[in-house]
Amino acid sequence: MENPPPLPIYTCSMTSLQPMPPNINADAAWNYHEATKHSYTSVRTNPRFLDFGNQPLPFKIYTSLEPSRMPTEVRQTGVAALSAIAARRPDPVQANAAPDLEAVAQLLYLSAGITRQRKYSGGEIYFRAAACTGALYEVELYLVSGDLVNLPAGVYHFAPAEFGLRQLRTGDYRSVLVETTGGETAIAQAPLTVVCTATYWRNAWKYQARTYRHFGWDNGTLLANLLAVANALGLPAKVVCGFVDAGVNRLLDVDSEREVAFSLVALGHDSRLSVRPAPPSRTVARLLTDISPLGFETVPLSRNEIDYPLMREMHAASSLDSAEEVAAWRGDTPPGRTEMRPAEIGSAAKNDSPPPTGPVVQLTPLSDAEMPRDPIEQVILRRGSSRQFARTPISLNQLSTMLDRATRGIPADFLNPFGSQLNHLYLIVHAVEGLESGAYVFHHDRRQLECLKRGSFRDEAGYLGLEQQLPADAAVDIFFLADLRPIFARFGNRGYRAVQLEAGILGGKLYLAAYAQRLGATGLTFYDDDVTRFFSPHAEGKSAIFLIAVGESVKLRQ
Ligand SMILES: Cc1cc2nc3c(=O)[nH]c(=O)nc-3n(C[C@H](O)[C@H](O)[C@H](O)COP(=O)(O)O)c2cc1C
Repeated sequence: MENPPPLPIYTCSMTSLQPMPPNINADAAWNYHEATKHSYTSVRTNPRFLDFGNQPLPFKIYTSLEPSRMPTEVRQTGVAALSAIAARRPDPVQANAAPDLEAVAQLLYLSAGITRQRKYSGGEIYFRAAACTGALYEVELYLVSGDLVNLPAGVYHFAPAEFGLRQLRTGDYRSVLVETTGGETAIAQAPLTVVCTATYWRNAWKYQARTYRHFGWDNGTLLANLLAVANALGLPAKVVCGFVDAGVNRLLDVDSEREVAFSLVALGHDSRLSVRPAPPSRTVARLLTDISPLGFETVPLSRNEIDYPLMREMHAASSLDSAEEVAAWRGDTPPGRTEMRPAEIGSAAKNDSPPPTGPVVQLTPLSDAEMPRDPIEQVILRRGSSRQFARTPISLNQLSTMLDRATRGIPADFLNPFGSQLNHLYLIVHAVEGLESGAYVFHHDRRQLECLKRGSFRDEAGYLGLEQQLPADAAVDIFFLADLRPIFARFGNRGYRAVQLEAGILGGKLYLAAYAQRLGATGLTFYDDDVTRFFSPHAEGKSAIFLIAVGESVKLRQ
């Protein structure tokens, strides 16, 4: 343990003679994206062999640090899941709110805690609160907090197996996050920030170089839960993707060849913590010297690890190197292809999405009075990816409620103004009462579904979802596609992290919205270019980012 560093210092000034930061040229993101596409041919020419004898541990274990246990009783907020996932627009004049240890425990349990376990021939799977590709759980959570009720200021690692916290540093290190986020206001005024990291090998053991996409997906589903629980607890929350990577990684003392910070979430609000103008920030080199390494040993994940350099290249090229670069990075979502809700965004609203040219169907979501009121805690514990869908129809009300609630905005530093969205939702409808089967695009701003083509596409959906049965049997498959060109032009390589993370959050919200209505859902992977082709000409130029199938789950019916 060591003392916290001096007060936060950062600056927003730019000097003109800086070399061009690597994030700006998005070649690395394009290369990574192209190289990790799935296709009918790629899955046949690159068959995966899983060495179960070398399967990575699902937990990070520090050999010399004992976790202190957290309260295990789950407090019931009683807030309906369908309300909790529909985040409110951030209020500029926030009331002070800080979590106590019990609230911290609840946030961690319901986003990354072990909620079920199942024995199988090779051992035991510890399922966690949020869906995760392959149940490999590569996302670790850390806390950087001031003094909270029953939790002294420090840097902690969340240990899900023990449901405890391991203290890595003692004292208030929030200033480091203020500095590394270029003075992000939500971080500067947060009593607590959760830092999410992702561990390459834990997921790459199965998914190889495609794992970097999974970082966004799996971090995102976890954040959907975290944001919903924070909302239910009355804690303001903001997702922050812009930070100096090396500084945050050093604060946590992760081995950044193996594990990297991916997102931060500012939680709570304290107006007494003000953002002060500051002298020029420390250089990264200074920052790294000022924060001493910890050198805690951890148990190796596997006998040996396979490195996929493409991912580390993608990560390095999307890293931000100075507070100035971070401050310039965050901000307005690129115009041109984003869709916003005029009613929510007010006079600044701009709807740049092309208006529908085909037949449209208006969403008919259930009102607050009509909607199921199952509380968020119950719904998170009920969730579990559907393994078989009954080919029975869901109602247009149910589908509308899911789309409406899940797309009401995410508080994030790359989604500005609130309500902006990087991903566009395209649907293959198989069995929705009141909606003809066919392909649709969702007009987020108008709350309308535009029919692109009519017909029964179960076989096509099964094929697009990597030839699996689940997307063929679902009531509806929701594909996320994004135009990466304006995103990369605005956010550089790091736009790739943002678009994948947003997809995971939206996907996680759709999971919760389905289970709140006692329907089932599952994330799925897909044949990238075939998805774009299927929805073209409308989707021309866009890239496939995410897929979730929804329907009546055979298990939930029993
Ligand atoms: C983004 C994403 C993609 C997924 N892709 C598949 C898939 O292609 N096939 C599949 O059967 N399950 C898929 N899953 C489901 C995971 O296997 C499941 O989340 C994991 O086993 C954990 O179980 P749980 O969701 O029931 O908690 C996916 C989940 C996510 C979040």
